[in-house]
Amino acid sequence: MAEKRENWGSKLGLILAMAGNAVGLGNFWRYPYQAAKNGGGAFMIPYFGALILMGIPLMFVEWNLGRYGGKYGHGSLGPMVYLQAREGVSPKMAAILGGLAGAIALGVTVLVNSYYNHIIGWTFGYAFMSVTGGYMDAAKSTGEVFVNYIQSPGLVFTFWLLALVVLGFAVSGGIQKGIELLAKFMMPTIYIFGIILIIRTLTLGSPVNPDWSPIAGLNYIWSPRWDQLSWTAALAAAGQIFFTLSLGMGIICNYASYLKPDDDIVLSGITTIALNEVAEVILGGTIAIPIAYTFLGEAGLGAGVGLSFISLPNIFRTMAGGQLMGTLWFLLLAFAGVTSAVAMYNYVVSLLEESFGFAKKKAALAVFLLYVVVGLPVALEPILTKTADLAYFTEVDNWVGSYLLVVLGLIEVIAAGWIMGGKAKDEMNRGSYWKVPDWFFKVFIQFLTPISIIGLLVMSTRDYIKAGYFKLVPSFVANSPQLIPWVQAARFVVFGVLAIGFFQAYKTIRDKYGVELESNQVSIRK
Ligand code: PHE
Repeated sequence: MAEKRENWGSKLGLILAMAGNAVGLGNFWRYPYQAAKNGGGAFMIPYFGALILMGIPLMFVEWNLGRYGGKYGHGSLGPMVYLQAREGVSPKMAAILGGLAGAIALGVTVLVNSYYNHIIGWTFGYAFMSVTGGYMDAAKSTGEVFVNYIQSPGLVFTFWLLALVVLGFAVSGGIQKGIELLAKFMMPTIYIFGIILIIRTLTLGSPVNPDWSPIAGLNYIWSPRWDQLSWTAALAAAGQIFFTLSLGMGIICNYASYLKPDDDIVLSGITTIALNEVAEVILGGTIAIPIAYTFLGEAGLGAGVGLSFISLPNIFRTMAGGQLMGTLWFLLLAFAGVTSAVAMYNYVVSLLEESFGFAKKKAALAVFLLYVVVGLPVALEPILTKTADLAYFTEVDNWVGSYLLVVLGLIEVIAAGWIMGGKAKDEMNRGSYWKVPDWFFKVFIQFLTPISIIGLLVMSTRDYIKAGYFKLVPSFVANSPQLIPWVQAARFVVFGVLAIGFFQAYKTIRDKYGVELESNQVSIRK
């Protein structure tokens, strides 16, 4: 393993790329409706609780896993987890843990992106339509415009493939000339567009109803509604922390694998979190909800896709300067999405380089084709079934976009905190400007963090059972027979990718550390 790994070109580039990885659609599109739906200000308690209990410690754990694995030439999770776990359990056992971690990381990076790339495609399409006035015609509701969009192959395929081409080029350029360059351009732009949008939002006044104003909207998202504070709200908050910080996906580890062995971890990890939280709580919280509230009141807030792609366009079409606002909003979403999806894309590329010796350009092309294939069902469901339920997308997201992240987070923190133990702390602190104190490692990484992740997993499992996700035919499609095959196909694909991921990760570990597995003794060290 003498091959030289790429490195980040500058500290600024590294931080912007990491922040780009974390700042994504989750911040602008997922966070606002999660907060609004789950108690407003009351949501902030479990949200910040989860940030402290799980977000910050896991961020250190992931940077450390990545930098440590990178030293041995690895960019994927299987071998990374193996290397830490072998310090405390037998290599055979460590290889199984590595296999599990690798399986989930591949599942997430292949399948979360299979629908995320589509949302990026929609944001490209909507940015284009904002410029050309494509949703301005008042004869059609913006709900119809959206359904029409996802059901028209021309629009869907054009912008989706365009998004994939942009991602493919960025990844082919390599770490410094591709990903870093992209982040240096897109990240500052996101913050600038965000600030412009906030200023415009806060000066909207009350054009429709004297009770509706941007400030009333801020009140709605910030003032605590204690009655809505429930276990479900707490789970939503913890899930949002995982999603928004890109934890439990393998992509923070992958970026960290391009660090040099003595590069700082602790301060850089904190900086990534700070940049993400500003983009989420301040920018994400001050745009979509206040605009929607000003024009539509509480009833118009909508959720998820509806807020960004239906409610807001409906407002952009009536407000002064709406076309420009729409353009900025959808470009902001597009850039946020691209700088995150590129991390998923790079994970799979680096796995092909590492395990199968692919050259970068060839790997980038292979992953391009892979994303076309796994993205097809997402694109075809609305077109072929003439529905807009996105059941395939929903089922994939339920498992890989929410549930499995937490499982992977648990494996990582167990490998670092319990199995590798104190050595993991020393490793984290090597070269770091700030050190993780002994008490923090013991209280958080070895105790509170794994315990809260286990709690989160148990409660989520209970919620999933109650919501009927474990049923042979999940409850959310029980009354729509034409969607059942799509959900079953989603399960089949998730299972298939996980199985492939397990064998692939296990095989990579065996290829490189076979001697250790046979003798059941650690012998390869750097
Ligand atoms: N942190 C990202 C976000 O907030 C999560 C993500 C990364 C999702 C990469 C998909 C791809 O959107």
